[in-house]
Amino acid sequence: MGMYGWGKTNERELLDAIGKALELGVNFFDTADVYGLGQSERILGRGVGKRRKDVVIQSKFGVRSFDGKTIYDNSPSYIRVALDATLTRLKTDYVDVYVVHYWDGVTPSDEIVSELERLRSEGKIRYFGLSNVNMAQLPIWTPFRGSFVTVQNQFSLACRDREQDVRATASALGSNVATWGSLGQGVLTGKYGENASFPADDRRSREAYVNFHGEKLKKNLKIVEAMRPIAEARDKTLSSVAIRFILDALEDSIAIVGVKRPDQIADVARCMGWSLSSEELFSLDQISKGI
Ligand SMILES: NC(=O)c1ccc[n+]([C@@H]2O[C@H](COP(=O)([O-])OP(=O)(O)OC[C@H]3O[C@@H](n4cnc5c(N)ncnc54)[C@H](OP(=O)(O)O)[C@@H]3O)[C@@H](O)[C@H]2O)c1
Repeated sequence: MGMYGWGKTNERELLDAIGKALELGVNFFDTADVYGLGQSERILGRGVGKRRKDVVIQSKFGVRSFDGKTIYDNSPSYIRVALDATLTRLKTDYVDVYVVHYWDGVTPSDEIVSELERLRSEGKIRYFGLSNVNMAQLPIWTPFRGSFVTVQNQFSLACRDREQDVRATASALGSNVATWGSLGQGVLTGKYGENASFPADDRRSREAYVNFHGEKLKKNLKIVEAMRPIAEARDKTLSSVAIRFILDALEDSIAIVGVKRPDQIADVARCMGWSLSSEELFSLDQISKGI
C-alpha cells in the first residue's frame, strides 16, 4: 500500500482491497511508517474508516528516511514523535500493536521497552512487538519475555532458511509469529514463470530479491508445481495453499500478505476455514526444505 517500489498500484483499488478484506473477515492489518513514507498508513486509515474498532492495526517504527538515506532509530524521543505521526496518518488515537521494525543496534532494549510501556499507559498503544529478530539478538530481548505479542520475520514455502530464527525467537520471547514475504513476494501465486521480469522501479527486478532470479526462481517454481495438485484436489487457489502452509506449520501464527486489489485478497482469503492434511503438509515441507 506504500504505492512505491512494488509495481503499479492504484489508490481506489487499494481502498477496495481493504473493503473486500473486511467483508471476508480479515481483521489484522500490518503497516509501517516508512512504507511509502506514510502513504501506506494514510490509505489504511482511510480504508478502515468507521470499522476501526473491529480491526487490529499493527504498525512499525524505527526505519527513517533521512536526506535520501535510510537510518535506524529506536531512541525513546523518536519513538514518541514517530507514533504521533502514525496516529495522525491512520486517523486513530491508538495503535493496537506497535512494533520495533529493526533494532538500531545502539538503543538499550530497556529504554525502548520503558518508552513503549509509557505509551501504553497513555493509551496510545495497546501491545507491542518486534520484527526482523534473529537468535543472535535474543539476549537483548529475553529479559522482556512476555512483553512482545508478535515477532515478525520472513517465512514462507520459498523462505525456509530462517525458520530456526522464526521459531526460536517467538518461543524464547513467548510471542506469536507473524510472517512477512508470505507469498515469496508473489512467486508462490503461480503467476510467474522462468522468465519472470519486472520494470526497473519494481524492487523485485533486483538480484537481492532472490525469489525471482536464477536457481532460486527455478526451485520456487518446483514448489509451485508441488502445490498445484493440492490446490486442485481441494478446489483452492495456489496462494491460499501457500498461506495455509504457514498457518498449519507455525502454531498460532499470523500470515501477513501484501495485496494490491480486491481480487488478490479474495484469492488469498480462500486459505480460511480448512487445514492441510498431515500428508499434504509433509509433502510441502519436504519439497521446500533447504530451498
Ligand atoms: N517486517 C518487515 O520488515 C517486513 C518486510 C516486508 C514486508 N512486510 C509486510 O509484509 C507484507 C507483505 O509482504 P511482501 O511484500 O514481502 O510480499 P508477499 O505477501 O509475499 O507478496 C505480495 C505480492 O504478491 C502479489 N500477490 C498478492 N496476492 C496475489 C494473488 N492473489 N494473486 C497473484 N498475485 C498476488 C502482489 O504483487 P504482484 O501482483 O505485483 O505480483 C503482492 O504485492 C507487506 O505489505 C508488509 O506489511 C514486513
